[in-house]
Amino acid sequence: MILYYSSTGNSYHVAQEIARQHLGELINMAKPGDRQRYVLADGETLFIVTFNCFWGVSKLVRDFFRLHQFSNVQTIVAVITCGGYLGAGDHALQRILKAKNLPQAAVYDLIMVTNYVVFHEVPEPDAQKQALTAADSRLQQILSGQAKPYCSSAPVRILGIFVHGLYAIFRRTKAFSVSGACIGCGKCVRDCPVQAMEIFQGKVRWRKKSCDHCLKCLHSCPTLAINYGRYGRSTLGKRRYRYPGP
Ligand SMILES: Cc1cc2nc3c(=O)[nH]c(=O)nc-3n(C[C@H](O)[C@H](O)[C@H](O)COP(=O)(O)O)c2cc1C
Repeated sequence: MILYYSSTGNSYHVAQEIARQHLGELINMAKPGDRQRYVLADGETLFIVTFNCFWGVSKLVRDFFRLHQFSNVQTIVAVITCGGYLGAGDHALQRILKAKNLPQAAVYDLIMVTNYVVFHEVPEPDAQKQALTAADSRLQQILSGQAKPYCSSAPVRILGIFVHGLYAIFRRTKAFSVSGACIGCGKCVRDCPVQAMEIFQGKVRWRKKSCDHCLKCLHSCPTLAINYGRYGRSTLGKRRYRYPGP
């Protein structure tokens, strides 16, 4: 069984590759649903694939594990995709699993392409291609058992408390803005994994005070109308990202 959550496609690509090799069922953690019990077959591995979020995992992933029940889980392998550095992301996930009485996971970091345009720039297409090719070969090493799991150090875990603490601030939707370029197509409303947006008088607006801050709306807006930061300054004019392919 492969539980995944992806905003711009990196983690989805990884989840698909795992499903192809292990013939597991793909489950999108972002799909809203009632409380469920996931039962694994004897000897089946539970894979978790998600993206690094301020050296942790996003609220949606935390909520998913809080809500659902799991049975017969013996082995967990987690791949956390990131733009550069996992920080204390492994520790954050292990704590979620522990709280659920699930076994500790072998966590692997997988550097792909950053989509966190609030702080960074999405690299140029050639650099993206190189990074994704390198990520694919590392993924093969992970899946063939040749890679060493990631384990953050104690100082990084302490620093992680502060880094992940920023997430609560950045999740506030008042920092998003929409420009006159918005055509009210509603793509972002349909895409939003936490139903934080709506169309009002032909334009998008945020109807929740905070969201998962996955930036899917910002990256997938067909008219680049969505920005973040004061007057949209943090992301204005910056390249958008989507894992290449169909
Ligand atoms: C809210 C947010 C926080 C992020 N924080 C980090 C981070 O702390 N370190 C890092 O290397 N990448 C960070 N990233 C980048 C993503 O983890 C990375 O681009 C990931 O591969 C995206 O996966 P996806 O395409 O499946 O959504 C962050 C992205 C978002 C949206």
